[in-house]
Amino acid sequence: MKRVITYGTFDLLHYGHINLLRRAKQQGDYLIVALSTDEFNWKYKQKKCFFDYEKRKHLLEAVRYVDLVIPEHNWEQKFDDVKMYHVDTFLIGDDWEGKFDFLKEYCEVVYLPRTPEVSTTQIKAGIKG
Ligand code: CTP
Repeated sequence: MKRVITYGTFDLLHYGHINLLRRAKQQGDYLIVALSTDEFNWKYKQKKCFFDYEKRKHLLEAVRYVDLVIPEHNWEQKFDDVKMYHVDTFLIGDDWEGKFDFLKEYCEVVYLPRTPEVSTTQIKAGIKG
């Protein structure tokens, strides 16, 4: 079984997120989403979420492509997650291109093109792309 992991905040779940999750699942058989906690978002990304962690988790668990949601507490846990969950592929949108190449020692690393013209920031600002 090929296991894929992806990381993110997934606040105000939108079609860009769904597109990413669909393509992530196509890369393997089992998709894990490491979902940024509210504390992590605030402390390290200066992001205040519209929906709290439990609500964002609940939404992701309802998506057919997602098999497991785990918390992302910090930047460093990726090594441990890859080992613990026997991950074959780490995958993320290309806004992070090159940023996680250090994981190539442990698994395949894939950057997928973002879906244009939609983001949580944009939705929060009420801007249509
Ligand atoms: N993503 C994507 N296409 C978009 C928006 C997001 O493929 N239009 C991907 C990101 O590249 C990432 C994942 O979805 O791999 C989660 O992204 P996240 O940062 O939670 O969503 P954004 O809409 O980019 O949120 P923000 O505006 O707060 O950065």
